[in-house]
Amino acid sequence: MRLRFDILTLFPDMFCGPFDDSIIKRARESGLISIHIHNIRDFAPGKHRVTDDYAYGGGGGMVMKPEPIFACVEHVLQEEPELEENPPIILLTPQGRLFTHQVATELSQHRRLILICGRYEGVDERVREHLVTDEISIGDYVLSGGEIPAMVIVDAVTRLLPGALGCAVAPLQDSHAMGLLEGPHYTRPAEFRGWRVPEILLSGHHAEVARWRRQQALRRTLERRPDLLARAPLTAEDREFLASLGYHGPFADDDEGRETEDEGRTTDDE
Ligand code: ADE
Repeated sequence: MRLRFDILTLFPDMFCGPFDDSIIKRARESGLISIHIHNIRDFAPGKHRVTDDYAYGGGGGMVMKPEPIFACVEHVLQEEPELEENPPIILLTPQGRLFTHQVATELSQHRRLILICGRYEGVDERVREHLVTDEISIGDYVLSGGEIPAMVIVDAVTRLLPGALGCAVAPLQDSHAMGLLEGPHYTRPAEFRGWRVPEILLSGHHAEVARWRRQQALRRTLERRPDLLARAPLTAEDREFLASLGYHGPFADDDEGRETEDEGRTTDDE
């Protein structure tokens, strides 16, 4: 099953390069994905093909006009309509919902994604209200446009498609896939400038290595992103290890626990 990306942009040349190497290149060549870049300017009417205009009501900055964006999306939807009846039409904007591993996973279930790269001060509100089905931000900062965010989404989503990576288990162990950051990795030599690889990794005890890795992931997540621990699925052993590091919650299933307790209490009262 192929996933088709349609990217609508005023700067198609920006996409030369990032999709022509490594995993994305291989995914394209093997037919796992296809990427179609569309120049919004080609859909602007008139000799000058104007795509932006002054904001009604004054104030500085230009706004992307609605007509070329609507025309471009309508054109794109006519290509391979059998792929998906109502594919997501996503506007890249700092005002969108935050792009996370979960959102990437959700998007990877589709057969087709349409990505609109916003520019200037923004796009005419009617595009938001009557055309797009989703708005995504890749972080709380403002970029010059949605082109780099579109590349980020193509990359993150493609990695999740079965067959995109050489090793099928790799994406499941990536940082964030398990709700935790990954622990450290080492390769040869076993000693470099006097710094040795942790002995456990050389021991050949697979179960011990797996336990150590899990603990390293927990430790690193606690140090760098404790907010993730509150949402990650954790075992009793994980919690015990975290307690030994001084972390006693909150945990993802705290609410559930409390709810069950509350329900119990209500029944008692009755
Ligand atoms: N366009 C400008 N900044 C952006 C961001 N942070 N995410 C998505 N699109 C953007």
